[in-house]
Amino acid sequence: MLAQLDQIEQKALDELGTATSEEALQQWKVSHLGRNSPLMRAFDGLGGLPKEERPQIGRRANEVKRLLETSLEERSQALRRSAVLQSLSAERLDVTLPGRPVAHGRLHPTTLTMRQIISVFAEMGFQVYRSREVELDEFNFQLLNFPPHHPAREMQDSFYVDTQSERGDNPVLLRTHTSPGQIRAMRAIAAMYPGDPPPVRLVLPGMSFRYEQVTSRSEIQFNQIEGLAVGKRITMGDLKGTLSDFARRFFGQNVRSRFRASHFPFTEPSAEMDIECFVCQGAGCPVCKRTGWLEILGCGMVHPTVLANGGYDPQTYTGFAFGMGPERIAMLRHRIDDIRYFYANDLRFLEQF
Ligand code: PHE
Repeated sequence: MLAQLDQIEQKALDELGTATSEEALQQWKVSHLGRNSPLMRAFDGLGGLPKEERPQIGRRANEVKRLLETSLEERSQALRRSAVLQSLSAERLDVTLPGRPVAHGRLHPTTLTMRQIISVFAEMGFQVYRSREVELDEFNFQLLNFPPHHPAREMQDSFYVDTQSERGDNPVLLRTHTSPGQIRAMRAIAAMYPGDPPPVRLVLPGMSFRYEQVTSRSEIQFNQIEGLAVGKRITMGDLKGTLSDFARRFFGQNVRSRFRASHFPFTEPSAEMDIECFVCQGAGCPVCKRTGWLEILGCGMVHPTVLANGGYDPQTYTGFAFGMGPERIAMLRHRIDDIRYFYANDLRFLEQF
């Protein structure tokens, strides 16, 4: 009987050594520790043994059972451990592989153009003033000397905001140009120096909005860069000198420019500046519509009423102002034929800059 138990033990341990899966272990458990296993039958047979043999055989049978149980547990643990190791080595990282390309963010063509324009004016001593985009009719029109029934004030041309201001005749709107910033800036400075305000030399960049048909040439939102210089002896010569110098620094030393008389309510006299077409050097081409010239900005001497509205006494002070559209300038520079690209967020366009 003892020899039989030795055999049962040996056979079971040998088979356990060849089990390499969880199912094989389950099967092994059924055949070596299950109801009908030789070991269990040996337990069943204990009652039929002579009384004096029973304790010894019983002890040995229990010993075999415990050994088989702990061996099963150990084998099962060893299998699980090697499965983990196997999957770890399968998932191993190859740190020498090249990384995935990271998409680089880049600056919008308008931002690039605005920064370049601003840095040219910064070289000439202009500082940046950021005025608000949501304005009052008072600042966008009235204080800029727009007559009450000027066409630009019509509901069809401006985005009005459903907010009431204190005065009924002073609706809230999205600024239609950056010029209201002239009044805001002059007042802010004049308020700090009552009586004798210091000269002003500012550029005012930012969004403007017009309720217009969107076409290849006009958008409902666009940027402007306003310029304002106010002082005690500023003349039209300073205006022309500053803006011609800007054109040379921005478009190239040989670029020619010209001024044409124009009209704005807030400047007098007023002008528009053209630069010689850099595509055809003035010979005439589709970009300049065969004129040889490209219009790039509106400008003029600040109207005395506007100076007074800003807190600068027009008896003592004069000034010039200008306004240009950076999208338009970027279009000229890069031969972009449709302004709608600027706000369409199409990466195929934006990634070219
Ligand atoms: N505000 C004018 C426009 O939007 C441009 C301008 C600015 C003209 C300053 C003269 C002086 O067209």
